[in-house]
Amino acid sequence: MAMLSLALAAASVAASSATNAQIAAKQIAVPPPPMGWSSWNSFSNTIDSQITLEQANAMVKTGLQKAGYRYINIDEGWWLGQRDAEGNIVVDPKAWPALAPGEKAGDMANIVRAIHALGLQAGIYTDAGRDGCGTFSPDLGPGYPGEGSEGHYDQDFLQFAKWGFDYVKVDWCGGNNEKLDPAIQYAEIARAIANAESITGHRLYYSICNWGVNSPWTWAPNIGGVAADIWRTSGDIVAPIVANSKNSSRAASFKGVLSNFDQGIHPEAQHTGFYNDPDMMVLGMQGLTDAQNRVHMSLWAISGAPLLIGADLTELTGATLAMLTNPDVIAVDQDSLGLQAVKVAEFAKGLEVWAKPLAKPGARAVVLLNRTDSAASISADWSSFGLLASSSATVKDVWSGKDLGSFNSSYSTSVPPRDAVMLLVDGREGDYKTYKIERLEITQVAKSSRAGDADGSGNPADRSGKQPATGVPVLKDHQLSFNHVGSRMRVARVEIAYTNPGPTTRFAELRVNGQIATRIAFPPTGSTIGAVWIQSVLDGVGANNVLSFSAICDPGPVIDSISVE
Ligand code: GAL
Repeated sequence: MAMLSLALAAASVAASSATNAQIAAKQIAVPPPPMGWSSWNSFSNTIDSQITLEQANAMVKTGLQKAGYRYINIDEGWWLGQRDAEGNIVVDPKAWPALAPGEKAGDMANIVRAIHALGLQAGIYTDAGRDGCGTFSPDLGPGYPGEGSEGHYDQDFLQFAKWGFDYVKVDWCGGNNEKLDPAIQYAEIARAIANAESITGHRLYYSICNWGVNSPWTWAPNIGGVAADIWRTSGDIVAPIVANSKNSSRAASFKGVLSNFDQGIHPEAQHTGFYNDPDMMVLGMQGLTDAQNRVHMSLWAISGAPLLIGADLTELTGATLAMLTNPDVIAVDQDSLGLQAVKVAEFAKGLEVWAKPLAKPGARAVVLLNRTDSAASISADWSSFGLLASSSATVKDVWSGKDLGSFNSSYSTSVPPRDAVMLLVDGREGDYKTYKIERLEITQVAKSSRAGDADGSGNPADRSGKQPATGVPVLKDHQLSFNHVGSRMRVARVEIAYTNPGPTTRFAELRVNGQIATRIAFPPTGSTIGAVWIQSVLDGVGANNVLSFSAICDPGPVIDSISVE
């Protein structure tokens, strides 16, 4: 069907005053990035039931669980590629024994039950191709072919859900070797996951691990219809460091941490429950100093990255544990706005300011990052991250916990070489411009919405035959455009005010200036207007940006307006 473009003229209404109150719609909290532990970095393919249990118990005892960590993720090495005559995965019964009376050895449901009994959740791992990484580059022990799910997607993901797993990471070694298209394979897998979920009623969180091949940030958000997911943006920070093995002398490097952080920044794709994943953390592992661990944690938190610990949880030092459980830092990572930091200033090469918008209006997490070999003063300027320069803001040093006071327009401090300072800045939002759909055109679209809304469940107004109280439904094959949108920021925050009166999350695509689309989740709002936030690169000269929404399937959300900083 030809795309019927209802390019709606948008009336631009400048915000009347520069107060935080102007951002009026109720913010809808979006799913946060996952927090947990993964076996790969410290145990490689030696992972078994006993190690998994020890780590799960340590997650509880150390207080990590209390701080919010909950996934115990079993990575590669749990399965060596064998299947039975029906194609079902067969695991080593010695590595995965019965753990309670009545259980059978070799049943992965045993370990899942034990993890759940601690109040934690369980993750599992496979490859999108026929073979897995253990075929091509076994880390410890011999290679083992066939350790991938290709040809068994429905069967394997149903099995994972039946075993009771809550999370699945899907690697790309086999897919890469076969030169498959990751956007296609990972969409197929998303469908297999949805199928498994509908059969078992059990949710599997989707973690895509193809190291950034073919730019997953352009296709992974909401892939195959998933409500929330993460995708890796780069290779591993370090190969596994396994105690008492030939790999015990490997070391993580600070350079690797910085490089993965940089590769993980795609703020236009990170929103509404979809997250860039710069890899499991190496915090607390061999090779990093305490100061470097602190920078690592600061960077992951300000990225809103998944916080997946790679270190052995039974060996964490008090210093590492304190960093991993710092409530202010975790709150920055898990903030319900769900956005990523943007680099807002680079005063000289290696002297950078990163800012992450937080749910509280006027609040920003800020990292002053010094990549150079000498100490330098770095300044956080309110206007660079959208706060009013003319208003004072309070500043807190996150790691020392000290309130530093109230400052006008900026805060500067000296940052030691190869180090960072993390701040919470609480000031006043700068101006936002609200773009509303004009009344006349609502009628126009509401009419076509009735025709195009197959099940009639689009929005309450459709059912009553009245016009929507406010807003325009986004529908399939229609494009709802806000033209002439301007911003003083290159990467601008955009609040989308909408309603979704239905019981489940709806999705729509947004194209900015005719570029590749990003898929946005619109959780239920009931009958009142809610808002989600995204960040968009608005590089059109002047107020010449065009933001076009279209639905992926009907009904989409009912868009009321957008507000742009
Ligand atoms: C890599 C992946 C790692 C780990 C490893 C297992 O491809 O990036 O996180 O899962 O495979 O072999």
